[in-house]
Formats: sequence, C-alpha cells, structure tokens
Amino acid sequence: METLMFVLVGLIASQFGVMGKTLVFSSDQRESVPDDDTCGYESCNPVKEGMINVHVVPHTHDDVGWIMTVDQYYYQRVQYILDTVIPQIQMDPTRRFIYVEIAFFKRWWDEQDDTIRHIVKGLVNQGRLEFILGAWSMNDEASTHYNAIIDQHTLGFRFLRETFGECARPRVAWQIDPFGHSREQASLFAQMGYDGLFFGRLDYQDKDYRVNASTMEMVWEGSDDLGISSSLFTGALYDGYGPPPGICFAYDCSDPVMDDESLHDYNVPQKVNQFLKDVADQAKHYATDHLIMTMGSDFQYTDALTWYKNLDKIIKYVNQQQTLNNTKVNLLYSTPSCYLKQLNLANKTWTTKSDDFFPYAHRAHSFWTGYFTSRAALKGYVRRTNNFLQVCKQMDALAQLDDSQHSSVSVEVLKEAMGVAQHHDGVSGTEKQVVAYDYAERLANGVNECRKTINDAYKKLISKSGTDVPFDQHYCGLLNISMCDVTENNKQFVMLAYNPLGRHVTRWVRLPVVAGTYNVTDSDGMSVATQLLPVSARTMSIPERKSKATLELVFSVTIPALGFASYFVQMTGDVPDQNLSEFRELDITGADTVLKNKHISLTFDDAGHLSAMENLDSQVSVELKQEFAYYTGFIGNNSKPEFQASGAYIFRPNEMEPHTFNSGTSVKHTRIAQGPLVQEVEQRFSPWVSQVIRLYEDAEYAELEWTVGPIPIDDKVGKEVVNRIQTDMMTDRTFYTDANGRQILKRMREVSLRFEGFTVL
Ligand SMILES: *[C@@H]1O[C@H](CO)[C@@H](O)[C@H](O)[C@H]1NC(C)=O
Ligand SMILES: *[C@@H]1O[C@H](CO)[C@@H](O)[C@H](O)[C@H]1NC(C)=O
Ligand SMILES: *[C@@H]1O[C@H](CO)[C@@H](O)[C@H](O)[C@H]1NC(C)=O
Ligand SMILES: *[C@@H]1O[C@H](CO)[C@@H](O)[C@H](O)[C@H]1NC(C)=O
Ligand SMILES: *[C@@H]1O[C@H](CO)[C@@H](O)[C@H](O)[C@H]1NC(C)=O
Ligand SMILES: *[C@@H]1O[C@H](CO)[C@@H](O)[C@H](O)[C@H]1NC(C)=O
Ligand SMILES: *[C@@H]1O[C@H](CO)[C@@H](O)[C@H](O)[C@H]1NC(C)=O
Ligand SMILES: [Zn+2]
Repeated sequence: METLMFVLVGLIASQFGVMGKTLVFSSDQRESVPDDDTCGYESCNPVKEGMINVHVVPHTHDDVGWIMTVDQYYYQRVQYILDTVIPQIQMDPTRRFIYVEIAFFKRWWDEQDDTIRHIVKGLVNQGRLEFILGAWSMNDEASTHYNAIIDQHTLGFRFLRETFGECARPRVAWQIDPFGHSREQASLFAQMGYDGLFFGRLDYQDKDYRVNASTMEMVWEGSDDLGISSSLFTGALYDGYGPPPGICFAYDCSDPVMDDESLHDYNVPQKVNQFLKDVADQAKHYATDHLIMTMGSDFQYTDALTWYKNLDKIIKYVNQQQTLNNTKVNLLYSTPSCYLKQLNLANKTWTTKSDDFFPYAHRAHSFWTGYFTSRAALKGYVRRTNNFLQVCKQMDALAQLDDSQHSSVSVEVLKEAMGVAQHHDGVSGTEKQVVAYDYAERLANGVNECRKTINDAYKKLISKSGTDVPFDQHYCGLLNISMCDVTENNKQFVMLAYNPLGRHVTRWVRLPVVAGTYNVTDSDGMSVATQLLPVSARTMSIPERKSKATLELVFSVTIPALGFASYFVQMTGDVPDQNLSEFRELDITGADTVLKNKHISLTFDDAGHLSAMENLDSQVSVELKQEFAYYTGFIGNNSKPEFQASGAYIFRPNEMEPHTFNSGTSVKHTRIAQGPLVQEVEQRFSPWVSQVIRLYEDAEYAELEWTVGPIPIDDKVGKEVVNRIQTDMMTDRTFYTDANGRQILKRMREVSLRFEGFTVL
C-alpha cells in the first residue's frame, strides 16, 4: 500500500498584493458615490470658524474575546449595540456612529432582514454609520506577524467592499486599546491606504511630555527605506478611548442630564461647566482649534438611547452658551475621519516620530511587557497556523477549485479564526484561559478545513499534470512532539513538502520512525543522505505523546518556489544502518567539547553549558554562557504603583538577577549525538526545562530547541522563564530586533525618555 504524506515545512510566505494606493494624510481620493448621498469627508457635519470645535464621537469598543469568548460577547452585548444604535442614528441625520470590528459586524449583518439591511446601507452611504479601521479585529501590535495583520485587514475590507462598496472604505485606523504600538503597524497602515491613525495608550512619561509640548499628534515615519509611502498621520487620544471626566451615559454609569428646572436635581449648569472645563483642559494641549472626544467605552451602547439622548442635550446646552454667554466652544457629532479632515485643512507642520511606542507603561512599576510572552503556546500555534493559512490560500488559488470542491468557503474558516486570534486579547495572551482554549479550537477547526482544501487542490493539480492520484494525503500535524501515524506505521511512503515562498529553499526534515534501515530517494530516483537520531528524552516523556517512534530520520530537501518536492521513503531492514548516531554522556571531565561544521564551532564548558561560538568563515569568536533561568513575579494588590502585581499584562519581577537552575553549576544529563548530517547536544536544566542544541552539516546558524513546562505552581510563586545568553560583547545598551517579523529596528535599554525625531522642542 502506498501512502502519500504531506509535510509542511515551517516557512513564512511573503505573498500578497498591496491593498490600496498610499495616501499620506492627503485629502479624499474617493471615487464617485450615489447621486443624492454623500459619504466620506463630504458627509461631515459643519464646523464653526473661530471656535474650538469639539468632535463628539459616539463609539463602542468591542473585544473579540477577552473575559468571555467572541461568541458570548456577541450574544451578551454586541447584538444589542447594533440593534439599538441603528434606529438612533436613523432618527436624526446629525447623529453619527463608528463601528470597528468586522468579526462582530458580519455576524450581525448576516442575521438582518432586507428592510434593516436597506436602512443600514442608506446610513453608510450618507456617512452616518462609518466603518473605522474595518479589520476583522483590532489586532495586537507586539506579538502579531505582519503577514497575519495584512490577512485580517484584507478579510474585513473585503466584507465591507462586497457588502457596501466604496462608502464603507475605512479612512482611519483605530487602535485605541492595544498595549503599545509598533512602527511596522504604522508602515502597513500607510501602505493600506489609511489617511491617519489614532490610538489610546502610550507610555505615561511620553504622554506627559507630549501633552505638555502639544505634540500628541504627529507624522509617524513607518520604515527607513520605504520613505513617504510608509508615513502616516498619527494622533494619541487625550483620555484614552473613554469619555472626558464627568460625562458617561451608559446604563452602568448613568448620570443623565436633568434639564427640567422645575424638577429636583436640575443639573444643566454643572454639566455644561464640567464640559467646558474638560474642553479647556484638552484644548491647551492640542495644536489646532479642533478636539476629538470619544463618547463610549468597552461594550457600551447596548442601550444606545441613553447615550444619544444625553449627548443631544450636552451639545444643545453647551452650544447655547455661544449666544447666552459668548463662549467659543462648538460641539458637533463627528467621526475620527471628520476630525482628521479638519486637521488636514489646518495646514500645520507636525513633528515626526521614527521608532515605535514600546514598551508601554501606564505608571511607575507597570510596564506592559508581560504580554510579550504570555501564553507562549498559543503564540506559537498562531504563528504556525499563519504559515499553514498562506499555503492553503495559495493552493486554493493555484488549483482554482470550484465550490463543489473544498474551496474558498473552507479557507474562510481559517481566515476568520486567524482574524479573531490576532485580537489584542488573543495572541497577546491577556485573555482568560477558557478564551485562549476557544481561540485554539477555532484555529484547529480552520486547519482541518484547510487540509481538505489542500488535498483537493493537490489532486486537481496533479491530475492536470497527467499523473493519476488515487490516494489521499495525510498530514503530520504533530511533528512538534515527533509523532506521525503515517511515518511510524508504514514501511514505505512518499513524503511531499510544499514551499510557499517565491524562491527555492533547502530545509532539513525530521520524520518520526521506528528502528530500521531507511532508503530515501528523491523524485529522480537518486538516493539521499540520511541520518537516524534518537528522539530526545524530554520529547519521549511528553504525556500526550502516543507514539511508537523512537528515532527521527533526518535528511535535507530542496523545494522549488511555490512548488512541491516529493521523496520516497522505504524501510529496507529492521536494524538501523551505520548512520545511526546515539546519544552518549558528554565528557565533562575537563576537556571542552566542540560541535563543528564548515561554518560554525560551538564549545561546551565542563559544566555542560554552551560557552563559545565561533564563525569559522570570519574567524570571529564570542565567549558566552547560555542557560535558562526564571524571575519570580511580584505579588501585589495594584492599589498603588509600588503594589503593582506581575501578571499576564505587566512583567514585574521580584529581583534583578533571575534564579538559575542547578545552583548555577552544571547542567544535568548533558548528552551528545554526532553524525554526518547533524550533531546535537541534549541538556536537562531541571525536570521541566530541557534543550537540544543542534548543528546541521551546512548551516550558518545553530538551532536551540527548548521544551519548558509544565511550570510548577504548587509553591504559589509566579515564574517567568528566560533563555539567557551572556556575552562579552560591548553593546552600549543597543540591540536590534524585528518588528512584527519584518524590518529590523534599533532599540536601546534603559533610556528614560526618548524623543528623537522631534523637530519642535
Ligand atoms: C510645560 O511645562 C513647562 C515647565 O514645567 C510649563 O512651564 C508649561 O506651562 C507647560 N506647558 C503646558 C502646555 O502645559
Ligand atoms: C456664563 O459663564 C460663566 C462662567 O463660566 C458662568 O458662571 C455663568 O453661569 C454663565 N452664564 C449663563 C447664563 O449660562
Ligand atoms: C500651508 O502652509 C504652507 C507653509 O506652512 C504655505 O506655504 C501654504 O500656502 C499653506 N496652504 C494653505 C492652503 O493655507
Ligand atoms: C503540538 O502542536 C499541537 C497543535 O498542532 C498543540 O495542540 C500541542 O500543544 C503542541 N504540543 C506541544 C508540546 O507544544
Ligand atoms: C535505495 O533505493 C534506490 C531506488 O530503489 C536504489 O537504487 C538504491 O540502491 C537503494 N539504496 C540502498 C542503500 O539500498
Ligand atoms: C551516511 O552518511 C554519509 C555521509 O553523509 C552518506 O554519504 C551516506 O549516504 C549515508 N548513508 C545512508 C544510508 O544514508
Ligand atoms: C495593598 O497592599 C499593601 C502592601 O501589602 C498594603 O499596605 C495596602 O494596605 C493594601 N491596600 C489595599 C487597598 O488592600
Ligand atoms: Zn480591548
């Protein structure tokens, strides 16, 4: 029996077209709109010259999962928000509402009848209901990959375009809640064609400075080498995304305007004075005669009447003061894009910014860096799934499947699951555990659907090329724990690998197998060099691993751009061949041990730690010590900055120097396996921390693969595990990392205030 197996090599695709023309804070480039309707910048309510115009922006912030799952939020809150907002904006042409998360909006839209849909289209065509951001979710900016960010925006944009057309095109990016902001995100937004970006959270010291200098609004330069096409007007909101002090009309903060003088508790003067005070405060710190005030917050407007009825009164009574009292404050219902239009008309020169808004601290001791690593397993799963989605989309497109086959409909399941998972309480790891499981389940369902799509696509492509394929492919989805039904239970099979990149690649493959002699040949029938290695002790002991495989068959594959490579694997005997490399204890009796290939040499000290790495081509050598350690988390009640607890959002360790394992001396059970293709050192730091350091024959890098967990919690001490590499390099606090898996950014440690890029000080 011949079985065809499908192995996807862990590569990230770099496809996708650009989604729109780049507009850098320019005026509207809109195409024509229906005759008697106006949307976009032309549909804005009028402003008054010579006054401070306050753009009152009714909005709701709807997390696509956090304390509750995305489905629970939809039924418990969001459906009522859209149900009640629509009649409220319909009854008064000056009222406005913005909606952000298409993951929610699409569900609601699908449930509406033609009458409601007709009304909603009218509101969109008149700019009274405006889509802002318009992505599937408001994605996290720290732990997301740029590829997934683009996909989840595409998903939202496509829905808007197909459902409403040009009037629904979002003009403004709206990242009001994410916990810090990435330069790459700004660059992507600029390239997607947004005219501006607003956000709510920035570091408290940065905010103090910017508030004082009236530079909360700026031009963000998103990329060193893309130039102006990656620049985007960016504004930080004054009160986060909530309403100004003393103003809140949701059901749970109800403090209505009581405007019948004959009744008790008449409060119009207090409300008006409070509002004018809020306006005066904010106006001091913004550069133009226009202010934006967000009216709403998390899941507000479930009863939209309470907000609109009271905002109507606030607008009426504050504006009355213009004639009664000669005030120069004018309130209007508005949207972020109508505000942006006025900033543009003001023709100002703005300061620029060219790094990112990380890390974010909202006060002393409260740096939101904990979420960079929270729920690492979900983060890893989201990354691998992103890779799989690229393959699924490509295969679907290449094979041009029709609807009778598993086509775009099933690709949609994974696109939507990925869109939801990019949310700032999704891949960020700041959600409840049950919600994290819900995201993972959605991803798994999407992956299953995409496997069917890929199977169909592959069959169709192969039959086009004249080859008959009467068999199905099977997937090795658990190679992460060296387990695969097909490779363990068949004496011969074909392994197929797909390369989603636009250039050919050479990669190492590791297939879990039982003991035996294996012959691997490529599609030309040429034998391929192989090596057998034992599965590491730690992987063997993973409780959920139910596998007969004790060895991994290692060989190198070369795959053409956007193409397949197939390899025929045959077990020719029961006894492993001469290239079996078994682990032996590392000699720690004094002599240093060295792993070496053509390019690199790795030295281990007599305690079993990696202690030096040399680039043999350039002959540069670095002394180092690589080990695992952990910080314990601060326990606190958050009542004051000094009592800030460490947690999923905020990293606040108890100590500057982390705890090391084995009292900092030797790594236990260090074993080494050496063969012609790959050499590995297996280390155990503790029963729950182990590592394999790996050097492939031709690699210009070393691979460090670690397994951590379950982290012991019986002692009720939170532990943040780190992989620490100490070197003798003189870096002057400077280091470089990527932003969202794309460009490399220079970063500096322990810089208290960074205001580079300011042209006005
Ligand atoms: C900024 O700070 C300086 C020095 O503390 C102060 O004099 C000035 O009034 C502040 N400006 C604003 C707009 O708050
Ligand atoms: C006019 O403004 C002043 C100062 O804000 C306030 O005390 C007064 O009540 C206002 N008068 C009227 C008629 O609203
Ligand atoms: C905008 O400002 C620039 C210089 O600051 C000036 O040259 C230009 O005329 C202004 N344009 C308008 C429309 O006011
Ligand atoms: C291996 O991957 C699967 C999903 O593909 C995931 O559910 C599982 O937790 C992973 N196992 C480990 C030990 O990381
Ligand atoms: C492996 O299989 C190929 C093709 O059947 C054959 O030519 C070759 O001799 C085999 N090699 C070994 C070592 O058995
Ligand atoms: C064992 O490794 C050597 C060196 O890479 C290679 O030439 C030989 O083909 C391998 N043997 C098998 C059976 O793969
Ligand atoms: C919070 O913890 C600190 C330190 O233990 C304690 O002094 C303080 O009273 C606590 N505050 C509250 C509100 O519980
Ligand atoms: Zn949120």
